[in-house]
Amino acid sequence: TTHIPVIAIDGPTASGKGTVAHRVADKLGFHYLDSGALYRLTALSALRRGTSLTDEHALAKLAEHMACSFTGGDIILAHENVTDAIRAEEVGNTASRIAALPAVRQALFGLQLGFRKTPGLVADGRDMGTVIFPHAPLKVFLTASVAARAERRYKQLIEKGISANMEDLLMDLQARDDRDTHRAIAPLVPAEGAHVLDTSQMTADQAVEQVLKWYAAEVK
Ligand code: CDP
Ligand code: CDP
Repeated sequence: TTHIPVIAIDGPTASGKGTVAHRVADKLGFHYLDSGALYRLTALSALRRGTSLTDEHALAKLAEHMACSFTGGDIILAHENVTDAIRAEEVGNTASRIAALPAVRQALFGLQLGFRKTPGLVADGRDMGTVIFPHAPLKVFLTASVAARAERRYKQLIEKGISANMEDLLMDLQARDDRDTHRAIAPLVPAEGAHVLDTSQMTADQAVEQVLKWYAAEVK
């Protein structure tokens, strides 16, 4: 599978990774991996089963034996559609806590490699370019100011009819950035050779255009 191209898109929360990766995959007809969803699924399973968030071994087992599938934009866990449930703030925070555990990351490693199928893959997360697909021909590090990202999350929540508080959002966002950036294993940093794209002043479509341009230059 090493000849199958991968576009790795990493960055902090609400930088637009999911939106941009998804659109780039659509444009190129590539598969799409939302690696954060795997950590969220593990977190949701743990919360529901009451698994202790410090029991690394039990959490890794959960991650390894998760019966999940991704079909037509829906995320299924043990026959239940959890597409919306995994987006809850509590699940995101729990995901970022258990993502710091080496055994959990190890348990999700093979699952992620399996998404690499012809004709290609766009993968988004925190360590796509650094750990999972270090030989990806194109690596992008998407970022945006904390204010811009909090604003984006706020809008997303309001559009979904969920009430949101800007101050809480800012605090959550900074706490998660801090945890993801400073953890010992697979911390959030631009991969070697990654193109860094600050999208604070860009629309999602402009970011998509830039990524497609870089990719075209790469495969030329
Ligand atoms: O996956 P990640 O948490 O990085 O971000 P997302 O879930 O894709 O959310 C980003 C939100 O900001 C979406 O509502 C996008 O439409 C919007 N947005 C963006 O993604 N990129 C921009 N340059 C501007 C806005
Ligand atoms: O959408 P958002 O950027 O807020 O989060 P996500 O991509 O769904 O990921 C949720 C959490 O999982 C992140 O805060 C990370 O701690 C963790 N994660 C990770 O450690 N490695 C990845 N490749 C993807 C997510």
